[in-house]
Amino acid sequence: MNEDGQNIKKIIWRVLAMLALILMLLSMFSGCPPKSPDEVEYLIGISQANMREPWRLVLMREIQEEAKKYDNVRIVSTDATQNSDKQVSDIKRLLDYGVDLLIVSPCDAQKITPVVSDVYQSIPVVVLDRAVEGFDYSLFIGPDNTIIGKQAGEAVVELAAGEQARVLEICGDTSAQATIDRSKGFSYVIGDYPGIQSMQISVPTEARDAAEEQVLKYGQELENIDVIFAYNDYMALGAYRAVMKLGYQDIKIVGIDGFTGEDGGLELVRRGIISETITCPTGGKEAVQYAMDILKEVSGVPKQVILRSHRVTKENLDEYQARLEAQPVKADRIIQVGYAQVGTESTFRIAANNSVKAAAKDEGINLLSLDADQDQERQIAAVREFIARGVDVIVISPVVETGWDEVLQEARDAGIPVLLSDRKIMVEDDSLVMSYIGADFIEEGRRAMKWLLEETKSQKKPIKIMELQGTKGASPTTERKQGFEDALLTAPGYSIVYSRGGDFTYEGGKRIVEEYLKEHEWEIDVIFSHNDDMALGAVEALEEHDINPGVDVKIISVDGTKPALTALQEGKINCVVECNPLLGPQLMKAVGDLTSGKELPLRIITDEKIFTKENINREIKNRNY
Ligand code: AHR
Repeated sequence: MNEDGQNIKKIIWRVLAMLALILMLLSMFSGCPPKSPDEVEYLIGISQANMREPWRLVLMREIQEEAKKYDNVRIVSTDATQNSDKQVSDIKRLLDYGVDLLIVSPCDAQKITPVVSDVYQSIPVVVLDRAVEGFDYSLFIGPDNTIIGKQAGEAVVELAAGEQARVLEICGDTSAQATIDRSKGFSYVIGDYPGIQSMQISVPTEARDAAEEQVLKYGQELENIDVIFAYNDYMALGAYRAVMKLGYQDIKIVGIDGFTGEDGGLELVRRGIISETITCPTGGKEAVQYAMDILKEVSGVPKQVILRSHRVTKENLDEYQARLEAQPVKADRIIQVGYAQVGTESTFRIAANNSVKAAAKDEGINLLSLDADQDQERQIAAVREFIARGVDVIVISPVVETGWDEVLQEARDAGIPVLLSDRKIMVEDDSLVMSYIGADFIEEGRRAMKWLLEETKSQKKPIKIMELQGTKGASPTTERKQGFEDALLTAPGYSIVYSRGGDFTYEGGKRIVEEYLKEHEWEIDVIFSHNDDMALGAVEALEEHDINPGVDVKIISVDGTKPALTALQEGKINCVVECNPLLGPQLMKAVGDLTSGKELPLRIITDEKIFTKENINREIKNRNY
């Protein structure tokens, strides 16, 4: 055969092989009919834990409906039938098939972690519902199950109306993190009501008929039960059937999920089968939207998106459904945002303020910014000023966590939504705030301590730590301390021997070290500073006393500003845990969503790194604040 003939033969073989591969894949995958990777711009692989739980079916439906809105996307899905080994091989096959991005809803977070981590080295991964261990993924989207449990607790307290009440909790799989968190939140709330007694039964399959059977076994003992709290609406329906068969119509039932459709929680509320459902969003729609942002390399995609859940009763059902069905409409006027910012205490803060201003300008938003100079009273006055001016949205970076209830209620009464940027608050009524956009400070503290544990693991002698705390009562101070101490508790031999507040300023950090040295010989092994500015102030004080920072004492800091990264490069600081100040783009996106009528997630958590001598030369090049 001549050369041309050989080539034609090769082409025919390739076409046949490709057809065979496509046929094989068609039989292997379910979901949207797969197209060959070349036919669409983006191919998204979905690895689903199982396709039998109603919650997961709704999740898949949402993904498919959202994906249809994009012409250039196809999805390919696999069903692991709740078998982790199958899910591992499903994920590998999706990767071999050439998906551009993987969305995974794990059967078992621990078992799926290694494969997710491997895949993340080559393509972006969005994890849904159950978080894998560590941070080797692009984005996690899920509900806050502790809050869901708390909301169910509030529902039960209201149904008990201050009386004695006996509650039967129908849990799902008790080893699942969602069950553990729901139970924790529920017990937290009813723990304040000694008249409410609760007992738990478990229905591992989480299915309607199994729940019905379990409740039927109770027989006449149901006489002692006032409320049933089922950990999903389908078990709630099973429980309802049982109580009706046994003739205990007076028992009130609370469920979780709040889906639409026949036998969905909303319909059960409408028909009076259950008194209340707590919605548990699947995140399917958001997963596709963020997946597209990731694929298009949009900047500022967060690391975690925690979705909001709602209490739905007959009283607010219509209003809730109307909100669900409403189509967002972009506001056709210039949006006014009032920004009550903390001050200019640190390099982080200056970068944060600049980022917000630049993003507002880019989005054509009119930003009124007031600087509180680290004083809560001034910040509250700023919020009142924004209310008086009738802005569309108020953004607060709160100096401290407490003392916000009254002014936030005033904002609500004026119909102005409030967003939190960078710092959190504690209020009686969480719904006074639409969303929190910022870091996970507890994780930052944990990362600092974990680095220290690894770094000093071969050291035998006890390790003495000096802590430079930030502003008293500010959420980064409380939570970084909490995360650091949580991790510290797991390791004997480490103790914080000196801890003072430095208000997040350079001068504050310097002063703490100087005051210590006035009273003590230097015997500190490690300084954990809650921010870079204080760490750099401490470095200066140490050098003035001929103590070699980074060598005689290890220094761990938080933020990741250029001056601190430079000190890390010079060996004067040993580890910097990042806290990202560039929140402007996400904040303005949230303002846009809010003013178009979209519901915001409860929390949007930024992506953050950890810097050490191993990666600093590479990372410092990208830092411009
Ligand atoms: O709220 C974040 C903290 O506030 C930063 O870590 C610190 O530098 C700032 O002042």
